[in-house]
This record gives sequence, structure tokens and C-alpha cells, in this order.
Amino acid sequence: MVTETFRITREQAELYEERFVPALFRNWVDPVLDGAGVRTGQRVLDVACGTGVVARNAADRVGGTGSVIGLDVNPAMLEVARNVRPELDWRTGDAADLPFDDDDFDVVTCQAALMFFPDPTAALREMARVTRPGGVVAVQVFSALPKQPAYGPWIAMVAEHAGPGATQMLGTYWVHGDADALRARCADAGLRVTAVQEHIRPAYFASVEAMVLTEVNSTPLADRLKPSELQRILAESAPILGHFRTGDHLEIPLAGHVLVATPT
Ligand SMILES: C[S@@+](CC[C@H](N)C(=O)[O-])C[C@H]1O[C@@H](n2cnc3c(N)ncnc32)[C@H](O)[C@@H]1O
Repeated sequence: MVTETFRITREQAELYEERFVPALFRNWVDPVLDGAGVRTGQRVLDVACGTGVVARNAADRVGGTGSVIGLDVNPAMLEVARNVRPELDWRTGDAADLPFDDDDFDVVTCQAALMFFPDPTAALREMARVTRPGGVVAVQVFSALPKQPAYGPWIAMVAEHAGPGATQMLGTYWVHGDADALRARCADAGLRVTAVQEHIRPAYFASVEAMVLTEVNSTPLADRLKPSELQRILAESAPILGHFRTGDHLEIPLAGHVLVATPT
């Protein structure tokens, strides 16, 4: 199986921050930081921080007496993160080989990224290693595709028009959607799970076209769809997503889990 790593360019990372983060990823930050119990004075690591939405909100919570490091494998994501919040500590690194000492952090978070790691158990083991005894690891993943009322039928339609590269990318988001399997993986990685909570969070887009173009242009999909495929997908998205319109915008429900654990 080929692993998707969500590798995007600097230009795509700018669009990710400008469009995708406020539409979708920002809406998972509070469940993650609340689940982790992030508070004043703590030392926090955000693994696979992307353009930094979890890390900068964590920094606001820990205040001047705490500290936050955001780590990602893609320097383009970190350049955007650094532009938004230059004073925070942004590091390049691999989730499966964290460049930190044992027991270094009170809290380690990882949002919408476990599915992009070639060895997710190794990454969870690293998160456990760098978290102090009694500290917290909080991992957010999306629920399985059959539980997604909008993305389920939309991705089925996209798969009819797109090649295998695009279809594989869109299938990757949901691979840790089985909460029991994720619990078992955490146990293998040396984590004792204390809570798994399912949340439904909306993703907000101005229109169906805005949703499709955000999904495509700020992800690796941009390089995997031919213009003719994108046109067909745009045309067929309206009947599938149109009934998620609320007032003047689109409100797409997205189901996911926040798992909270502590090192064993
Ligand atoms: C969908 S983005 C999520 C980013 C961020 N957590 C958020 O919520 O906006 C997935 C991120 O995982 C990062 N990533 C993929 N493989 C990685 C690895 N092995 N180590 C660290 N980061 C990785 C990608 O570069 C990308 O920034």
C-alpha cells in the first residue's frame, strides 16, 4: 500500500491556511485542546502541525509561562506557520522520530494527521515517549467514510471521475475511523486510553464550488486531477452537496474522534 503523506507546495500551503483551516481544521481545535486539558503554564508539542492552527491556539491557552512547539515534516507548511506566528517555535521533523528527550512535554497533540504517517504506531510510540508520566496525548482523526453524510457520497462520486491517485488521496482521511482499532493501536504504542469522544463538527464553505476548489487546490489533489475531471466533479457536486446549504453558505457535517491517552 502506498502511504499518502499530504506533501504540498508552498503555494498550496498558503491556500490551506487561507481557505481550508478556517473552513474545516479550525473547528477541531477546541475539542482537541479541551480533550487534552491544555492550560496555563504547560509545555505542549503539536505533531504534524501543518500551518499551525492547533499550536497557535495552544500557545494562547498556555500563556507566557508555558511553551508550545509545532513540528511538521514539510518545510512549506512551517514557512506559512512562521509567517502567521513568528514568535512560536516551529521545527522540521518526522513524527516517527521526534527530536525531543523522553518525558519532555505535558501534552502532545496531533490533529488530522495520523492517517498520513507511514507507520502510525511508531509515531504514537514516539508521542508516548516524549510525554511525561501522567501527561496527555490527544489525537484527532476522522470517522469512517460510511459515517460521513456529505463526504461519503461526494467521494464515491469523485471516484467515478478521477484516477486512482486522487481516489487514494481522498480515501486516506478516514483510515483511522474505527475507534476500537485506534484504541488497540494506542495500547500497542504504550498509551493507556482514558477517553475517546466522537464529535460532529461543521465545515463551512461559501458555496459548493468553493468547497470543491478548496479540497482540490490546498491538498495533493491539485496535481492529481485533470482539468476535464475537475469540471465533471464540479458539475456533479451540486446535486450531492447542495442540500447542505444553510442560508447563504454550505455547512457540511464531519464526524471524527478525539482520543485522549496517557503513557503507560
Ligand atoms: C491534513 S494536514 C493537518 C495539519 C494540521 N495538524 C491541521 O490540523 O491543520 C497533515 C499534516 O501532516 C504532516 N505530515 C505528514 N507526514 C508527517 C510525518 N511523518 N511527520 C510529521 N508531519 C507529517 C503534513 O506535512 C501535513 O502538514
